[in-house]
Amino acid sequence: MEKPVILTGVRSNAEPTLGNLLGVILPMVRLQRKHAKDYNINFFVPDLHSITTHTDYVSLYKNTINNVKLIVAAGLDINDPQMLVYRQSYIPAHSEMAWILECFAYYGELNRMTQFKDKVERIDFREELNLSLNNYLQMQRKFGENYTKHEYIDFLAMHFAGLKSLVERQEKEATVGLFNYPILMASDILLYGAKYVPVGEDQRQHLELARDIAIRMNRDFGNLFTVPEPWEKLTQFVAGISGVRIRSLKHPQFKMSKSVSDPAGTILLSDTPEQAKSKVLDATTDSIGRINYDFKNQSGVSNLLQIIGILENKTIEGVLKDWQEQTSYVKLKRAAGDLVAQFLSDIQKNLRSISDQDIIDKLSHDEPIAALKANATLLNVQRAVGLRPIINDYPSDARN
Ligand code: TYM
Repeated sequence: MEKPVILTGVRSNAEPTLGNLLGVILPMVRLQRKHAKDYNINFFVPDLHSITTHTDYVSLYKNTINNVKLIVAAGLDINDPQMLVYRQSYIPAHSEMAWILECFAYYGELNRMTQFKDKVERIDFREELNLSLNNYLQMQRKFGENYTKHEYIDFLAMHFAGLKSLVERQEKEATVGLFNYPILMASDILLYGAKYVPVGEDQRQHLELARDIAIRMNRDFGNLFTVPEPWEKLTQFVAGISGVRIRSLKHPQFKMSKSVSDPAGTILLSDTPEQAKSKVLDATTDSIGRINYDFKNQSGVSNLLQIIGILENKTIEGVLKDWQEQTSYVKLKRAAGDLVAQFLSDIQKNLRSISDQDIIDKLSHDEPIAALKANATLLNVQRAVGLRPIINDYPSDARN
């Protein structure tokens, strides 16, 4: 019988951050060491996802190869026979399956995805209308009847011209690909029957959508898909080391992210270990003066505890035992800074010794194997929805 699958992917449109490294790459290395015998492990580069937002297209291909190099440098053994490594765009079944899934997912579901909303800050028209009404009332109060309807209409016209151009700009930035992106992600997951999908907390809603689509289509068509485990089971499985949200060092209320321009709060793969350490030493904390794991009131301190926990491979309870009696934030920052600097320096050293050719050889070997698996699932789904014959009574149609 096929072993269950652990699957994840990291986009290649921007330089990886400490968030990617600690949120998913390091956990994958540990999961492989722990479960290599009992699970198949898929790591892929979602290069089609990488173009959902405007990106540096000239560097994209190179960055895709670099992403695979990075997982090797972080310690993933890609020569393990249980491991498949591939690029999404090299396996057309991903896009074909995504189209079919799109026809079984609803606009309302996608519209609720907070990641899309975060990327495309929507304009709240009610607030805007309220604003212009208030403005009118104020002007009337000030100028009485002298403030005529016509003047108000002129004012409104100006106001809405500004709004219109803002909407147009935002609409251009929000591609249809970005909106549909969670469905392509569902396709990535369901094509390979993934049971566990280790991802950062920002991807939780997308994982849940993949589950919802799988459950819905299984209900309609019988057992088409393996339904991935829900978030709670996933975080139990990865023992708290994945499913996390590494925060910006400067603005710890937000995720550390490659898309936000926050250089002092974001540690990039290319930062020197010294730069990384000094960013940690400059991290925003608070004035409470006690070391608690409490993201609501002490997000900066909690972020540092979380970083230490992942790098020392300890549960948060274990890290708290070491730190909760202490009060010095400087000591905490130094400990986190040293760990981050050492971690980055090891990866950077390993990266230098991996050749592009080794990576391309591995991809060329694995992609046809991954395509066979993906195509088998796709064919089942095509049969279920009537795109391919179910029984072999169309002998002339040999292309299924
Ligand atoms: P992406 O490329 O934005 O990020 C890759 C992984 O890194 C995690 N991550 C973080 N984790 C903790 N703290 C952070 N600050 C942080 N920043 C990023 C992300 O949660 C993610 O797990 N949609 C995915 C890529 C994808 C995928 C898939 C993943 C496409 N198809 C199928 C799993 C399965 C994404 O944009 O990740």
